[in-house]
This record gives sequence, C-alpha cells and structure tokens, in this order.
Amino acid sequence: MNSLVFSGVQPTGNLHLGNYLGAIKNWVGLQHQHASMFCIVDMHAITVFQDPIALQKAIRETAAAYIACGIDPEKSIVFVQSTVSAHAELAWILNCHTPLGWLNRMTQFKEKAQQSKLGTENVIKFAKELNKRIRRLQKSVDEGMVGHGLLSQYLEREKLEKYCSTLEVALADLEEDIKNSSVAKLGLYSYPVLMAADILAYKATHVPVGEDQKQHLELARDIAGAFNRAYPVSSPPCSSADSHMGHGSGLTRPTDRETSSVGGFFPLPEPLILGEATRVMSLRDGTKKMSKSDESDFSRIHLMDDADTILQKIKKAKSDMEPGPIRYNLAVRPEASNLITIYAAVRGISRAEAETEIANDNFSAFKTRLAEALIAHLAPIRAKMVDLLADAAELDRILKKGSERAADVANPILKEVKKTIGFPI
Ligand code: AMP
Ligand code: TRP
Repeated sequence: MNSLVFSGVQPTGNLHLGNYLGAIKNWVGLQHQHASMFCIVDMHAITVFQDPIALQKAIRETAAAYIACGIDPEKSIVFVQSTVSAHAELAWILNCHTPLGWLNRMTQFKEKAQQSKLGTENVIKFAKELNKRIRRLQKSVDEGMVGHGLLSQYLEREKLEKYCSTLEVALADLEEDIKNSSVAKLGLYSYPVLMAADILAYKATHVPVGEDQKQHLELARDIAGAFNRAYPVSSPPCSSADSHMGHGSGLTRPTDRETSSVGGFFPLPEPLILGEATRVMSLRDGTKKMSKSDESDFSRIHLMDDADTILQKIKKAKSDMEPGPIRYNLAVRPEASNLITIYAAVRGISRAEAETEIANDNFSAFKTRLAEALIAHLAPIRAKMVDLLADAAELDRILKKGSERAADVANPILKEVKKTIGFPI
C-alpha cells in the first residue's frame, strides 16, 4: 500500500503551542518519510462565523506558519481546502453514507454547540436588558420626567417603538431555538464528515493530529468502511495505482506498511498521535485544553509571541504548592505535568529526562528555564513567519501551486467515486 500523509489546521486566530506540538511539529519529520499534504481547512473554520477580512489574513498566516515550522512546499503539497472543490463534492456523497447516530456521538460538536448556545444566551440577555432600558426611558419621556426637547428628537419615538417590538419577537424566537437546541449550524454537525472527505479525497493513509481529533478520525474510518461495504470492489484498491496520484501533482507515494484497507475502495486512514505533547493544556488551568477560543491570552503561547510575551506568560502560568521536586503526575499535578511536557517537547527529550534536568529547580527557576527553551525554539519560527508574511504575493503563489497539485490527486479519485455510485462522469 502506498502511503500518503494528510493533515490540516483551521485558519482561525493565531496558531498556538498546542497546534504546533500536537500537530505541525510532527508533520515536518513525516514529510521526509511519506508523500504529504498539509491543508488549511477554511471550510471547517466557517462552521462558526468568521469575519471575512480576518479569515483571509488567518489563511496566509497559517500558510506562513506551516512553512516557517519546516514544511517544505516544494516537497509537500500545501494548499487551502476551499480551492479544491473535490472536498465539498465528496463531503456531500459521504453525508449520504453517514448515519446520524454516528454524528450524535461526537463530543466536539456537543462542546462547540454548547459554546455557541452560551454565546447566544448572552446576546439575548444583553438585548433584553437594552430593550427594558429603552422602554423605561420612553416611559420617563411620556410622563414628563425627562425633557421632551432634544431627547425625543434623538429617540424618534415611533421608529423606536417598532424596533423594540421587532426585537422582542426575534428574541422570543431565538429563545425557542435554543430550547430546541437548534442554534448550532448544520455545518458544525457535519464537520467530521467534511474532515473524512478531506482525507478520503486523496485516499490518504496516515493522519497526524493531536489527541482531541482521535474521535473524528475513528469516524472517518467508519465512514470509509461504510462506503466500502456499500460499493464492494472486486479489483485491487485503486489507491495503489499510480494513475491515482495525478501526474501533475509531483508527489510520489513511497510503498511501505500495509493498512487495514486492502480490498476496499477507500483505505482506512490511521491516526498518528505522536510526540510527548499530544494534548497541551491551558497555562491557566492544567485540566483544560490549550485552545484558540479561550478568552484569556495568558492561557496559551502563540507562535507569533515575542520573547518578552513568552517570558511573561510562563511566569504567570499556574503552578502548585506540592513540596519537593517538580514531578509529572497528571492526576495530582496537572499544571506541573503540562509545563514538564512542554519543556520536554521543545527540548526534544523525554519527560523522564526533563524531570532529571529540573530536579533541583523550584517553580521560579523552572519557569525561567522553560521560557528560555521556548524562546530559543520559537524565535526562529517567528522570524521566518514575519519574513514570509511580508511577501503575500509569494505566499499566494505557493498556495495556488499547492491547490493545482492537490486537485491533480483528488480529481481522478472523485471521478472514480462518481462512477462507482452511478453518477454520470
Ligand atoms: P485546530 O486548531 O482545532 O484546527 O487544530 C489543529 C491541530 O492542532 C489538530 O491536529 C489538533 O489536534 C491540534 N491541537 C489543537 N489544540 C491542541 C492542544 N491543546 N494540544 C495538542 N494538540 C492540539
Ligand atoms: N478537524 C481538525 C481540527 O480541528 C482539522 C482538520 C480538518 C483535519 N480536516 C482534517 C485534520 C483532515 C486532519 C485531517 O483540528
């Protein structure tokens, strides 16, 4: 079986240490062992609303981060998901092979839907309060408590009355939606199906991700299996044929380990959850994942943070009061464990080696040591990102080339999918 690595990150906000240590850092080594594709998944990003200008900027920043971290865009294919239509086309076909019950099990959907529910509840709360105050003000004007003159000019009484009533109805509708838990968008629900399409559109065999994506990858395997069972193939799987690499892609798939796919239309993609830091935690709370959506900037280190910011964030990171040396113990010392894990990952050593190195440190000394290691590791990446972002035209050129190479791989596979299910091609 010819191997192909595929992975992606959403272009939302700044990339952080979790994205780097959990995912991107591992890609760099893999690209030398396997044909590799690294995608900027903007279609996944819009499953929650994104400001268009900010999205455009984040796409370039993510591309710059990939390259600055060591992805070679000549060797690997680096591209933006929405520029290759096969992702959306295959996603629809896979939607039609995915039972709702499988999607209902996805924990990320539940978490994100809950976040968007809380956000909407807040908006309702504020809008109701505003409405109440406006009505109170109107009443004061009516009762002559507040002078009519200037104020009534500004208030434009009738219009305001209409706004208030419309808003009340809209808020009531929204509350009803929330009660029926229907505020989260359909795209958020079928997010993992699109992820399966990303992978299967290329018949990718290995998917390096952080721990949080494990469940989505199991689903991608289930969906591939469902498709394989629905359309059994008698001939050997087409992924092993070079004709499916797309001759313009410039990728060669080295032949290596077998996957459990033999015989099916789609290979079953294998998750690769690698390194010491498969789950980097928040610097403010060792039991919460480091995440782009955390309100506090001090909860995470960004790839673009300068030395001073990194030092400050690490100094302020939560620690603990346990006596004796700083030790890895996830259940009892989540914050210490997280800092040790980060230190080991950036120094390229094991946790045990890290514990030995810091055996005589108190938290203050360890934090200085950790900040220095992080700064040494991240400063060159940041400098390279700044350089790359200064030449947007060159970044766009790289992404366009990547998109053409990706389409060369995906289109023949999509054509074969269409033929298999009986669509005209
Ligand atoms: P996202 O930012 O959700 O697009 O995630 C992109 C990649 O980063 C995925 O492979 C995630 O598993 C990985 N990732 C995100 N947050 C973390 C974290 N806190 N620790 C480890 N990996 C992470
Ligand atoms: N869902 C992934 C995340 O949030 C990003 C992603 C989208 C992805 N498509 C993918 C990762 C395909 C690996 C393969 O982290």
